[in-house]
Amino acid sequence: MITKPTIDRIMEATDIVEVIGEFVALKKRGANYVGLSPFVNERTPSFTVSPAKGIFKDFSSGKGGSAVTFLMELEKFTYPEALKWLAKKYGIEVEETVDTTENLEEQNHRESLMIVSGYAAKFFHESLLDTDEGKSIGYSYFKERGFSNDTIKKFELGYSPDQWEAFTGEAIKQGYKEEFLVESGLSVKRDNGTLYDRYRGRVMFPIHSFTGRVIAFGGRTLKTDKNVPKYVNSPESEIYHKSSVLYGLYFAKRSIREEDNCYLVEGYADVISVHQAGIENVVASSGTSLTSEQIRLIGRLTKNITILYDGDAAGIKASLRGLDMILEEGLNVKVVLFPDGHDPDSYVQKFGTNAFKTHIEQNKKDFILYKTDILLKEAGNDPIKKSEVIREIVESIAKIPDSIKASVFIQECSRILKIEERSLNTELNKMRQAKAKKDHQHQQQQSYKPEPSPEDLLFFDEPEEKAAAKESDTQEKEIIRLLLLYGNKMIDWDGIANTYIGPFMIAELSDVEFEQPVTKNFMEIYRQEIENGVLPEEQHFIHHPDKGIVDLVVTLLTTKYVLSENWYEMHKILVSDEQANMKATILGAIFHLKKQKVGKILQKLRNELQTSTSEADQEILLNQYMHMKKVEKTISDYLGSVIIK
Ligand code: CTP
Ligand code: MN
Repeated sequence: MITKPTIDRIMEATDIVEVIGEFVALKKRGANYVGLSPFVNERTPSFTVSPAKGIFKDFSSGKGGSAVTFLMELEKFTYPEALKWLAKKYGIEVEETVDTTENLEEQNHRESLMIVSGYAAKFFHESLLDTDEGKSIGYSYFKERGFSNDTIKKFELGYSPDQWEAFTGEAIKQGYKEEFLVESGLSVKRDNGTLYDRYRGRVMFPIHSFTGRVIAFGGRTLKTDKNVPKYVNSPESEIYHKSSVLYGLYFAKRSIREEDNCYLVEGYADVISVHQAGIENVVASSGTSLTSEQIRLIGRLTKNITILYDGDAAGIKASLRGLDMILEEGLNVKVVLFPDGHDPDSYVQKFGTNAFKTHIEQNKKDFILYKTDILLKEAGNDPIKKSEVIREIVESIAKIPDSIKASVFIQECSRILKIEERSLNTELNKMRQAKAKKDHQHQQQQSYKPEPSPEDLLFFDEPEEKAAAKESDTQEKEIIRLLLLYGNKMIDWDGIANTYIGPFMIAELSDVEFEQPVTKNFMEIYRQEIENGVLPEEQHFIHHPDKGIVDLVVTLLTTKYVLSENWYEMHKILVSDEQANMKATILGAIFHLKKQKVGKILQKLRNELQTSTSEADQEILLNQYMHMKKVEKTISDYLGSVIIK
């Protein structure tokens, strides 16, 4: 367990805008910051950060919370992991008490996979730097390729000894479970059930997650034998989904945001060499063709991608279609080719940073124009092929969501293709209309509601019950909202003095049982704090380890209009209204909730009266019923007379 003083220090040091800013491009808007949601794919920003409260709210996915919650959501960190990440960022020493639940066996599955991968990275890295075999084979190979010591350390490059069980044996000795060794792909199971090392005799490239944890490996052979695969990569696992990972992104993200551009290369070596040359905004899709998830990862940081290809890449044409996907995501794509025989790695190593930059500047071409060039060259003078090219190009342009940008491309392509702009536009409009029609049909299909099935009819009564449940939910939440906003304010209405609103409300509600687990939990925490002599502030709940509590509190503090652009305006009005009628607001909420609970009890008693057969029971029930009726009346009178609504 991380100690309370450490947690407090971390919370004090944490600047939520800075933390979230590492993952999401944020723009200042009024007192808040906004950006594109990192949780869903969106084009208009609905993700809001309030530095004053230290919270974020994503109106698209509904997620919200503190910097800690954000890290837990995005990286699937556990609570202590998120705290440790922040502690590392802000240079705070973490004090921990010994906690038996933190031993290896009890870690959850994903966490175990991450831990074993982290251990493996360390093992391979140390074997590269500290063993004779590693130094003479792995380290000298990297040196030959021009990687500096700093680079080797930064990317945690490693070496896996050329033995069957060097890694596996040591890992098992250290207490790592076979299950996780196999699932992470670090070890392979023989038919007889024993394990051996997957990456024997290979140099190792650890693959880091967005937040810098090792989640997979690429292992390159040092043999020239054509029958040996050049790279062996980690299999898909619970922590490694190839299609949504970009090699180098963790090291590149800051620079991508600063430069407002991302270089996309093909291989591990390309990323490392280009990065080492001081151009840090570079990532690789690691041999596979780019996926829309990967594009979205980049799209959160910048809208500009520059693709650096080997000149001789056979896949250039094959990749053209894939690149349309980037256009669809609304990103700008430029392409740079390298001269025959060179990839970005070899080019920058041979000619240096300046020549590399110059080459990019002089050769970068917008993707659409590049595609036009390639296809045109291919078509030659064949008119049928040429019309095919025109159609394909316009198809790409039609994918660009920004119509102004699209029309600029129409102009340029009209020049290159020697076709009148007007005909290109006609074609473009045809495609757009076809697409709109398709989207429309799709929507209709989705909104089409079939006749209710017999199962649906069985639940005929549900809506009413649901509505009742929803009402009690809202009223319980209203109490909590008021506790958060006014709990630490003094009551100053007639008859009551020297009391804070929080304890007053808790006392008034001591006979009411909250129904929602999370609101019940909140009330319990609040009550306990008061018993400990503390008036809990909203920050206490925003940083609470229970995610349910954080969610509830943030949602209540940031209803859509509360955090909207004119938040302060709205807020002031709302608050001043409530404050002017503080007595009505507080008592109204309490008694509305009570009335509703009494109504439920009455309903229950009525049901019992109907089903009960014993006269004695009936008499008791009837007495209870009459009593509750009186209570209900008292509350109604009270609400009617005291509360001006
Ligand atoms: N790749 C792979 N499996 C292979 C070949 C390639 O997974 N058999 C992936 C790797 O991620 C590699 C990328 O595709 O980094 C690009 O391949 P290549 O250009 O052959 O590798 P480089 O990284 O350039 O390696 P090197 O420069 O060491 O030859
Ligand atoms: Mn290469």
